[in-house]
Amino acid sequence: MTDIPHLTEHPNPAGIKRLAVLTSGGDAPGMNAAIRAVVRTATHQGVEVVGVRRGFSGLHRGDLRLIGPRDVANTIQRGGTVLLTARSHTWRTPEGRAKGAQYLREWGVDGLIVIGGDGSFHGAHLLQQEHGIPVVGIPGTIDNDLYGTDHTIGYFTAVETALDAVDKLRDTGASHERIFVIEVMGRHAGHIALEVAVAGGAEEVFIPEDPKPVDGVVQIVKDSVAKGKASSIIIVAEGYPGGALGVAGAIEAGTGLETRVSILGHIQRGGSPVSSDRVLASRLGEAAVYALMDGRSDVMVGRTNGEISLTPLPETWDRRKDVSRDLYSCAKTLSV
Ligand code: F6P
Repeated sequence: MTDIPHLTEHPNPAGIKRLAVLTSGGDAPGMNAAIRAVVRTATHQGVEVVGVRRGFSGLHRGDLRLIGPRDVANTIQRGGTVLLTARSHTWRTPEGRAKGAQYLREWGVDGLIVIGGDGSFHGAHLLQQEHGIPVVGIPGTIDNDLYGTDHTIGYFTAVETALDAVDKLRDTGASHERIFVIEVMGRHAGHIALEVAVAGGAEEVFIPEDPKPVDGVVQIVKDSVAKGKASSIIIVAEGYPGGALGVAGAIEAGTGLETRVSILGHIQRGGSPVSSDRVLASRLGEAAVYALMDGRSDVMVGRTNGEISLTPLPETWDRRKDVSRDLYSCAKTLSV
């Protein structure tokens, strides 16, 4: 019989008494679950939590308040972020960061947890470099583009949302015998596009990791028609040069077939997080608090092969997380 772990005190060699948490950059479903996990883990360990509103933008303005377990009740299922988020220009200046550091010191904060993507981690890294404030990052972005974790919080939900849209567009595409070119988010990465292409049975997928010439799509569509397919679904990652409009233009010019473009956009960032995002966020929120208590700093907590991993923040953006080449080849094989 396996031992059931009981609630225990985590060692606190770093002597963390109070930590701060913020969400920054584009919101992602599951950020609330991560905030909740940070607050509840810290509380359980006797550590106080300061919530910073509007990310780094709120930090340099001093928008801080103490939050407790009841403040995060009923949030695990909610999309967006209850702490609000922003992309801050002032934080890019040394003066902005100095102001933020001053507020953290005034509030007696011993460490900061930043939930966001690579831009947010840059900001956190500079804060630690310039002011010696311990920082730990939690990967929160739908793009799944951070090295050091198999998945980022929000990615699973974004894929489900995009897939639902693809299924619906397939219905109308099939009825009208049209070609649908669907653009999904992902910034410079094709993780969402590839996953959605395979799960949605797309005829072709265009991702920035393989900037193949767009003209190839003309032959693919012609071949599809020759095989008896009256409609086709083509998935394009927003980071692919020319995007969905470029791909659709090439199809219409090369085949004369009726083509429609659907750019899914920010709908992919909203909605209630799916269970995989909630669970990932819960584990990483807990791990981030423990990392600070262990005296770790300038690292991102991630989940790699099912285990919690720590990666130096600069590595998360310096090293590129490639898309699965196996999945890419699978997408090709199954599109016949
Ligand atoms: O990083 C998340 C993301 O949604 C990207 O996929 C997209 O390129 C970008 O943010 C959009 O940013 P904004 O919300 O500023 O329009």
